[in-house]
Amino acid sequence: MLGDVNSLIREQVEEIQTRVGKGKAICACSGGVDSTTCAALANKAIGDQLTVIFIDTGFMREREPEQVVAMLKELGLKVELVQVADRFFDALTGVTEPTQQRLIFRTVFYQVFGEALKKVNASYLVQGTIKADTQEAEKGQEQHNVGIDFEKDFSLKVLEPVAALYKDEVRIVGRALGLPPEFTERMPFPGPGLLLRVARGQEITPEKVTLVRQATVIVEKLIKEIQTSPEQPFQAFPVLLPGKARGVLENNKRGFGHIMAIRVVDSKDALTTRPTILPFGLLLRIAGKITTEVKGVTRVLYEITPKPPATIEYN
Ligand code: XMP
Repeated sequence: MLGDVNSLIREQVEEIQTRVGKGKAICACSGGVDSTTCAALANKAIGDQLTVIFIDTGFMREREPEQVVAMLKELGLKVELVQVADRFFDALTGVTEPTQQRLIFRTVFYQVFGEALKKVNASYLVQGTIKADTQEAEKGQEQHNVGIDFEKDFSLKVLEPVAALYKDEVRIVGRALGLPPEFTERMPFPGPGLLLRVARGQEITPEKVTLVRQATVIVEKLIKEIQTSPEQPFQAFPVLLPGKARGVLENNKRGFGHIMAIRVVDSKDALTTRPTILPFGLLLRIAGKITTEVKGVTRVLYEITPKPPATIEYN
């Protein structure tokens, strides 16, 4: 429960100051509202005793790494961009099962994190875990950063200043801290990013991720036209489905092309969702733009399943 937002900020800042003292802290920030709010709280508390790292996994959205790093720098944070996409793709070669893909993502992510940590020499980790993350992990979701023993594996003490809050409450804290809307109103994007959007049964290749990334630009841009709040819709993205379907490809030749599903959901906290009722004309424009601009896609489907029984992500 949030209570008074300014009291919460004061309490969390004091808590970080007391625990970190004159030590150093690290924060792996993705630019999402949870980790950025935590980084801003820690910055307020301990200033440049905090180092923020942004790990470019290769699964981020179009131009996201450069943009997020630039925005974090503008907030006065000490940020390092770690570019390691090749390491993720290499490790995922030949793997088609999402559970294994998630495990590999997590392993490589924390190898990279460990290397960055050595350079920073921090004893504290500031992490943006929120209440829904813990609840989802308890229900079996392989949340990429929940359940790691940071004390044992990295000798890090963990600070989770927004762990008691839900997403809508974290946004309120972020706004009260003066974060710009690019952060506070940002659509949730999972840590493993586009990796979760190349659906089950497929190898994760840079080519497939590029297709999903291109379609993501289209979906996010067009969805903005009807978005009335961060909850409506809560998330909107395309997914590359496994298999192919017959269609008319380049040079009017018949062949088999990619199939993309569009998932757009309304939600407050990601725990339950319902499909957003989109204007049919908007759906047609999304489909038209994807089939024209994303090479090899011959079919676009709109997903109409709530959570439960579906989850938000496919993998
Ligand atoms: P699901 O798919 O379980 O997702 O309904 C609920 C929310 O969590 C996000 N999600 C993740 N976020 N690391 C993250 O940082 C993950 O491994 C992960 N898996 C799912 C998802 O985008 C949705 O907002």
